Amino acid sequence: MYTKKVMDHFTNPRNMGEIENPSGVGTVGNAKCGDIMRMYLDIDDNGVIRDVKFKTFGCGAAVATSSMATELIKGKTIEEALKVTNKAVMEALDGLPPVKVHCSLLAEEAIHAALWDYAEKKGIKIEGLRKPKSDIHEDEEEDKQDY
Ligand code: FES
Repeated sequence: MYTKKVMDHFTNPRNMGEIENPSGVGTVGNAKCGDIMRMYLDIDDNGVIRDVKFKTFGCGAAVATSSMATELIKGKTIEEALKVTNKAVMEALDGLPPVKVHCSLLAEEAIHAALWDYAEKKGIKIEGLRKPKSDIHEDEEEDKQDY
């Protein structure tokens, strides 16, 4: 049911891990399936995403979409990263089954949550960025499977 690209990013995820002292970190979750995604950003003084890493506790599509999302925003400016929608992530993966569309939404929200955190830390406002709804706290993710 998954495309080759989805399987590739699921079995060989890019940019998986953590960034120590990130410029911004965002954690989002989907209450229905219980999956959780965390995105770490390292942003330089020119607002370019120098590095990005993710951790996902959830399904294969969540792993694949977070992996692809990191590929799409790495080396990009904040403004460019904001334009990476879940649709763009899905297209880059050659599509997702309808029941897995929400997984790609989680990837988009994780980027936004990390950017939101960055803006808060910096005390700046990022044009066009809204506070992600599903930002959650660490203590809610104890029993998730780690990919
Ligand atoms: Fe919910 Fe994939 S099933 S994120």
